[in-house]
Amino acid sequence: MTALEIHLDDKYLDRTLRADVATGLTAMPKWLPPKWFYDARGSELFEDITRLPEYYPTRTERAILAARAAEIARITDAKALVELGSGSSEKTCLLLDALLDHGTLGAFTPLDVSSAALEDAVDRLVARYPGLAVRGVVGDLTRHLAHIPDGDNRMVAFLGGTIGNLAPAERADFLGRLRAVLRTGEWLLLGTDLVKDPSVVVPAYDDAAGVTAEFNRNVLRVVNRRLGADFDPDAFAHVALWDAEQEWIEMRLRATSAQRIRIRGLDLTVDFAAGEELRTEISAKFRRAGLEAELAAAGFALRHFWTDPAGLFAVSLVQAD
Ligand code: SAH
Ligand code: AVI
Repeated sequence: MTALEIHLDDKYLDRTLRADVATGLTAMPKWLPPKWFYDARGSELFEDITRLPEYYPTRTERAILAARAAEIARITDAKALVELGSGSSEKTCLLLDALLDHGTLGAFTPLDVSSAALEDAVDRLVARYPGLAVRGVVGDLTRHLAHIPDGDNRMVAFLGGTIGNLAPAERADFLGRLRAVLRTGEWLLLGTDLVKDPSVVVPAYDDAAGVTAEFNRNVLRVVNRRLGADFDPDAFAHVALWDAEQEWIEMRLRATSAQRIRIRGLDLTVDFAAGEELRTEISAKFRRAGLEAELAAAGFALRHFWTDPAGLFAVSLVQAD
């Protein structure tokens, strides 16, 4: 039986999805938060994305972690590891192996909004690390940080660049909440994608095989299933745009013709004009100085900033100040 603590049951999910859909689909321009991509199929599609030749973040972050995991264990002496937005926790095994070899680690707590991804990951981790206390938390990292287990010398890993999927104000709020649950001296290991030429970043979000397009459309399938909507996902084109001013990628779904969508669960009708776009995700790219300033504003000190030789991605070791 999987060791899972559930803070997002179906009732909570329905209530928050209803609120997000009612707000986002009646706004101008229309938008939906990216956390709704991740039902079981969405989590699988994300794993498929991580294996695409165009999608450099996962393999680059994995290489940085492989090179630095032993050093991270030595510097932090972490006794407990918490992972936010953990998904498959595949790269996290590099940290778990290093911390176990170092001899300090006793517990691992992955937290994710996707119960399907978390259940698979926890089953695999329990089998792989029989001596480690592994307990998954189904929760929203912007809301449920209070459910991170208390402990001594904890490290929170937030990998993959998922912090870039939060809007700047959400990011500041998240970092402030995280700082509030950590004691001075505890650790944050943060993966961030870095600003680079759009000719590298855009294909990572618009791959030739169309996997990211399916991932993007999955949010419509989630709204159809959970709220009884009648979106035709094939009537929406995948769009990935580099916003040079904000330094983020924006994913959108563009109505290929005029659409009238009925959302039975909300008793709401939403019209899309031909060509109208729905924003489904931002994926912000960072520079060291900006990241350091955001962290400092929340009460964190950047101790190490490790990148790959091409400077595509960074893993930062950060301490609660
Ligand atoms: N950390 C993994 C997965 C990244 S995909 C990696 O680096 O490969 C982003 C993950 O964050 C997904 O598993 C998704 O379900 C989770 N996620 C997205 N928004 C979330 C939220 N608000 N709260 C908790 N988990 C969230
Ligand atoms: C999870 N997150 C960091 C991914 C990203 O790159 O922003 C989600 C994703 N969206 C499209 N492809 C991958």
